[in-house]
Amino acid sequence: MKLIVPSLKYKDSFLDALMEFEKTKEAGFWKFPDETPRTLESYIERILNHSEGADLPDNWVPCTSYWLIDENNEFVGHINIRHRLNDFLTNFGGHIGYAIRPSMRRQGHGTQILKLALPKAAALGLDRILITCDKTNTPSLKIIEKNNGIFENECEQTGDLPTKLRFWIDLV
Ligand SMILES: CC(C)(COP(=O)(O)OP(=O)(O)OC[C@H]1O[C@@H](n2cnc3c(N)ncnc32)[C@H](O)[C@@H]1OP(=O)(O)O)[C@@H](O)C(=O)NCCC(=O)NCCS
Repeated sequence: MKLIVPSLKYKDSFLDALMEFEKTKEAGFWKFPDETPRTLESYIERILNHSEGADLPDNWVPCTSYWLIDENNEFVGHINIRHRLNDFLTNFGGHIGYAIRPSMRRQGHGTQILKLALPKAAALGLDRILITCDKTNTPSLKIIEKNNGIFENECEQTGDLPTKLRFWIDLV
């Protein structure tokens, strides 16, 4: 199992996974606020630009994405590491977001993707990361705790959105 820079080499598998995310209504990561990518090529080009701080939607910060790939070269999931926090990320989004494709959940991959991303975040110059999850998201809560997340507090969201739990993970 390895984290790789997004690449067309995994096109077929990524597109299969995208269909799974669409069925579970979790394909939001594929749609930027100012554009719905038409092709995987343009999506990859854009997220690679984001890691350089270029071509960012309004109010986004530079962000590096990795894909988790298994021994059969299958796409398993993705993780985004934001290089710094803004007000929204400080309260709700955190430095890191991740997802495992629906057909491959409950096999430890969520725990693994965060573990593998921590040295990548350190290599970006971060000495600790903020990570948040919905109070109702038990799997994510367990993943954060298993990666030594230290609970700071909870933040209420507007409307019917669930309360956010905020944790820090030390990288040094
Ligand atoms: C959250 C998510 C990444 C978990 O991925 P995963 O590969 O299933 O995670 P793991 O297999 O490492 O499971 C972590 C823990 O959660 C538990 N778990 C996983 N799915 C569960 C479920 N549906 N119900 C209850 N517990 C669950 C696992 O049993 C494991 O618990 P354990 O440590 O006691 O064994 C995945 O469900 C996902 O992509 N969800 C949508 C996006 C999301 O919520 N991202 C997190 C944003 S903060």
